Amino acid sequence: MDSILVTGNGPLSGQIPIAGAKNACLALMPATLLSEEPLTLTNAPRLSDIRTMTALLQSLGAEVTSLQNGQVLAMSSHDLNNHVADYDIVRKMRASNLVLGPMLARLGHAVVSLPGGCAIGARPMDLHIHGLEALGAEIELRDGYLHAKAPRGLKGAVVDFSFASVGATENVLMAATLAKGTTVLNNAAREPEIVDLASCLRKMGARIEGDGTSVITIEGVDRLHGATHPVVADRIELGTYMLAPAIAGGEVECLGGRLELVGSFVEKLDEAGISVTETEHGLKVRRRGDVIRAVDVTTEPFPGFPTDLQAQMMALLCTAEGTSVLEERIFENRFMHAPELMRMGAQIEVQGGTARVNGVEQLKGAPVMATDLRASVSLILAGLAAEGETVVSRVYHLDRGYEHVETKLQAVGAKIERIQGA
Ligand code: UD1
Repeated sequence: MDSILVTGNGPLSGQIPIAGAKNACLALMPATLLSEEPLTLTNAPRLSDIRTMTALLQSLGAEVTSLQNGQVLAMSSHDLNNHVADYDIVRKMRASNLVLGPMLARLGHAVVSLPGGCAIGARPMDLHIHGLEALGAEIELRDGYLHAKAPRGLKGAVVDFSFASVGATENVLMAATLAKGTTVLNNAAREPEIVDLASCLRKMGARIEGDGTSVITIEGVDRLHGATHPVVADRIELGTYMLAPAIAGGEVECLGGRLELVGSFVEKLDEAGISVTETEHGLKVRRRGDVIRAVDVTTEPFPGFPTDLQAQMMALLCTAEGTSVLEERIFENRFMHAPELMRMGAQIEVQGGTARVNGVEQLKGAPVMATDLRASVSLILAGLAAEGETVVSRVYHLDRGYEHVETKLQAVGAKIERIQGA
């Protein structure tokens, strides 16, 4: 298994290009199942999660061709010959459950394995099921698989989500595009990835209004056609690389970054003493002074502070002046990076969903272990600021969500390398 060696070596300087959003791409890819005509995605990120979704779609009979070194995904679901999303693929990645709504809408039936436990919390599928049942689907759990059918076709309905789940909103939104009549999603998720999905579906002929707000209205159509769509920039990758100069010093421009993707995160950076300015090509980030100030952070659905940046923000706050309180409200058990950061000298107390971080002057390099995708990159960020060498092992998590992390950080002067098979 590969590991990453980071040696703290001072300020960074230069530019980092931001890739297309993993989470947007993982929702856009299953949209191909809704139409017989080709769907092409450009600006796709090159990540193992995307390869997992490719394998899943291919197992259902879709054609997925990766072009231009993986940045273009040409897909066609003309002939779907299987309606079972197998456990062996679904267990690797929860987002596999996004094939349920589209398959049900197009074929009238679908069998999708439940994803099973995830390192960062239970993550059930009750909201997805509730939404699809409201559209008339009959769903049963047998042998660990959700068996869904809509013998009389899906029908538009009012769906009230008790929580603004990203995945449930995406699944039901896709299904509703082909349902008969009008669907209203109340308390829908407002994430930029939902807006990106809705905009792609509109190009395919769907009639959707209100995406980006908590009420989305969908007027069902008989069929969707082909389209070409560029994947929106990855706000989590953007936030992660914005933290690199915040932590290590210097100035970095994140190319393709836009303020509206990271509003609440930028507010917290500002409170901490980090300046962010818009440029012609992206966002430029540097510290305002020598001191990072402690800030309190609560994770919330968009437009609140994203849970997917909580671990990375914690890495910054480890060396802030004062005590920061981080409250995790989206996933239970999402502080697994805390004990690893403590191996590097951080002072953190975790109690339930709250972590108190008492800033220390200097982190020290140490061997640490990646426990999930965002936790792994938070350890790399911490390593940039630490004295000495940090070796992050189990980096396969990292490859699920960050393309060429070493190359991108090397380009701005970081001392970082991948150790093969260590
Ligand atoms: C998506 C993102 C993930 C991000 C998360 C929250 C993708 C591929 N992944 O995950 O990176 O961390 O949004 O921003 O886009 N829940 C239920 N029942 C359900 C569905 C969810 O209780 O049916 C709960 C989950 O357990 C969790 C919370 O709702 O506590 C948020 O989940 P959700 O918004 O659905 O996240 P995902 O779509 O899985």
